Amino acid sequence: MSRRILVTGAAGFIGSNFVRLLLGRGEDVFIVALDKLTYAGNLANLQDLLEKYPKKLVFVKADICDAKQIEEIWRQHQIREVVHFAAESHVDRSIMGSGPFIQTNVVGTQVLLDVAKGLGVDKYLQVSTDEVYGTLPEDQPEIKFTEETPLQPNSPYSASKAAGDCLVRSYFHTFGLPVLTTRCSNNYGPYHFPEKLIPLFVTNLMEGKKVPLYGDGMNVRDWLYVEDHCDAIWTVLNKGRMGEVYNIGGNNELTNRRITEVVLLQMGKNWDESVQYVKDRPGHDRRYAIDAGKMKNELGWEPKHRFEQAIQTTIDWYRTHESWWRGIKSGEYLKYYQQQYTGR
Ligand code: NAD
Ligand code: DAU
Repeated sequence: MSRRILVTGAAGFIGSNFVRLLLGRGEDVFIVALDKLTYAGNLANLQDLLEKYPKKLVFVKADICDAKQIEEIWRQHQIREVVHFAAESHVDRSIMGSGPFIQTNVVGTQVLLDVAKGLGVDKYLQVSTDEVYGTLPEDQPEIKFTEETPLQPNSPYSASKAAGDCLVRSYFHTFGLPVLTTRCSNNYGPYHFPEKLIPLFVTNLMEGKKVPLYGDGMNVRDWLYVEDHCDAIWTVLNKGRMGEVYNIGGNNELTNRRITEVVLLQMGKNWDESVQYVKDRPGHDRRYAIDAGKMKNELGWEPKHRFEQAIQTTIDWYRTHESWWRGIKSGEYLKYYQQQYTGR
């Protein structure tokens, strides 16, 4: 019998790429793609897959905070494994208001864990983030986040993710729930919502607008192509040890200024005409860097994509999918953009 997997947040950026990867590879799976379709969820991210794989993929619109609905879905589809992506995921929105972040990232995780405990599960994988570890000094490049680094979240987003991770840990220790946790660095690639740095900058430039660079532009992130992240998650689901945390990274630290230069170059734009320095993000973490040694040594996973090539693939995807992002950059999005970048 095919593996019966519940994928939460499956209509978002990484969730939809994960479903695409598994079905594209011909894995023997039956996937229940669950999503509330918030502003960040988009059924268009899954539409071609739903048409191509009607026997292997179903979509269910549901809120992970609704225990009754989750129980029904679990029973109806005989769920045995969970990959939990669903979250409020944007740091800037968490600074505007943390309520939805606590609700989805903490309460929603607790609901999933309780349903898993009550109805049974073979594997539950929590998709988390390197942001739970806080920030690193920029003048000590040898220091990176390991799985033993203490949790020191600095934004309401990362605090809510850390709380979810702590709940997952507690259900392993207290109830013996078979859980796995992954903590990944910044992803980029197709279907990335254009409020995040790379898709925002690429689409702004395509619209002839400027790109808003926070502070001095010298904050550092470790960038990983989304397909590599999805492959890592599948590896952990198959080979990871229960109760363990696995850090996933690209070994690809870049300042935001460098990212901006690369994007401008690839798009034939000039710095002075295209970049606008704007007010810094409050509490802006200076540097993230991942030590992914455990993934390599224990599970044999390493990223396969090189940044220089994958960023070009990503930009090309936005060039050939204009209707996808133009549809998003309207209505509620424009209100958010105005509020975020002009404070009005
Ligand atoms: P995203 O915002 O693109 O997608 C999140 C999805 O979750 C959306 O489709 C949304 O509709 C859905 N969702 C939100 N609240 C829900 C609820 N209450 N019930 C059901 N569905 C709900 O986010 P993403 O970038 O794809 O991130 C996915 C996961 O990966 C998140 O848990 C995030 O913390 C984690 N992560 C992201 C990155 C990154 O660089 N994007 C890196 C590391 C970890
Ligand atoms: O590290 C993993 C995390 O990466 C995930 O957990 C989050 O869900 C994901 O959103 C991402 O968080 P970041 O805050 O790092 O990503 P974002 O794209 O928002 O910002 C990347 C960097 O670019 C950060 O230093 C802030 C800066 N930035 C961002 C935006 C949106 C700008 O300079 N200008 C901008 O307009």
